[in-house]
Amino acid sequence: MTQPSLDQPCTLLGGLSPQDFMRRHWQRHPLLIRQALPHWRSPLSPQALRRLARDPEVESRLVRSAADDWQLDFGPLPRLPRRDRPNWTVLVQGADLHDDAVAELRDAFRFVSDARLDDVMISLAGPGGGVGPHFDSYDVFLLQAHGRRRWQYGRQRKLTLREGLPLRILADFEPEHTVELGPGDMLYLPPHVAHDGVALDPDCMTYSIGFRAPTTPELVSVVLELALERLADTRAGRRYTDPGEPATHEPARLPDRLLGVAQEAVAQLRFEPELVADAMGRWLTEPKGSVVFDPPDQITDLATHWPHPGVLHLDRRSRLIYRGSQAWINGEPVDGKASAWLKSLADQRRLILPRRPPGQAVRRMLLEWLEAGWAHLDLTDAASNPDAKT
Ligand code: SIN
Ligand code: CO
Repeated sequence: MTQPSLDQPCTLLGGLSPQDFMRRHWQRHPLLIRQALPHWRSPLSPQALRRLARDPEVESRLVRSAADDWQLDFGPLPRLPRRDRPNWTVLVQGADLHDDAVAELRDAFRFVSDARLDDVMISLAGPGGGVGPHFDSYDVFLLQAHGRRRWQYGRQRKLTLREGLPLRILADFEPEHTVELGPGDMLYLPPHVAHDGVALDPDCMTYSIGFRAPTTPELVSVVLELALERLADTRAGRRYTDPGEPATHEPARLPDRLLGVAQEAVAQLRFEPELVADAMGRWLTEPKGSVVFDPPDQITDLATHWPHPGVLHLDRRSRLIYRGSQAWINGEPVDGKASAWLKSLADQRRLILPRRPPGQAVRRMLLEWLEAGWAHLDLTDAASNPDAKT
């Protein structure tokens, strides 16, 4: 799926350009878009989603409701209710990490920074199924993929949750809007807008393209963690010593020397922009706990053979971001300065390899990425692409 051009009206955003959408709606107001993806068909069938929910490597949850009671089970889920049974839904988290076509859907939303993207969650529900009225702290695009779903939503002051339930359910839900979404329709909701989606048909499938928003303490702790790691590697990271400390008749008293050392160490911590960026880059590209890459059986040894024409693709699970001369991939800083081609690979997620091979260090690094399954080489794609001859 292609990335929309930023200042052109687009169907995906109901005739708004991505610029206008970001200005008017992002983080501010909900937007209902009829036929955002008119000819789109879910790349995953209901059966394929059931298979994912059974897989122990996939994060899934089953929500069932009866009267006012709610039940939550965590995957793997070998037995799901039949398609026409009422009041159940299964939620498959990170579906984009398991399927290339779902991962491609993310491209349509890349007018928002990759740093904000969390994942694509897919729900499958029987009639009446849903997760109950709630609010999220995330921005989300709710794309209807199969069957119909009724959404009720609205801003409300009182966000108190019901007690004693395994799910976050609002105590008093006061929707302002009620809409019915069919395949291809989409609803954008900013954080904290209360909402409740109820399946109207069997095999009701909804894609949630979700965007994470870290809290300030989260950001600070990420930076502190790296600062501490670096401190441990320096002389200042040595263990506390107190040779010549006098004998004490007040053993319970906190020693001044210990306090002094702690105070001095804290005062010496420096949070240079490079350190903050390094911490963010590592953290934002860190693969989720459930991610396992598939190293290929055979790889082209880029160190000895430069495949031209050829196209390098990032794996759907890889995260690669850059800032200035720094870049990070899958939780690690990239060695050397981020070059123009590396930035292009990060933005496009694919790169037509130039005719002239880069230096040995870069070739070795790319080889490591191929070996780890972080990137893949396509030798057929480029052959049919005229740009490849550059
Ligand atoms: C769903 O797809 O049923 C839940 C999505 C949400 O409300 O965030
Ligand atoms: Co929600």
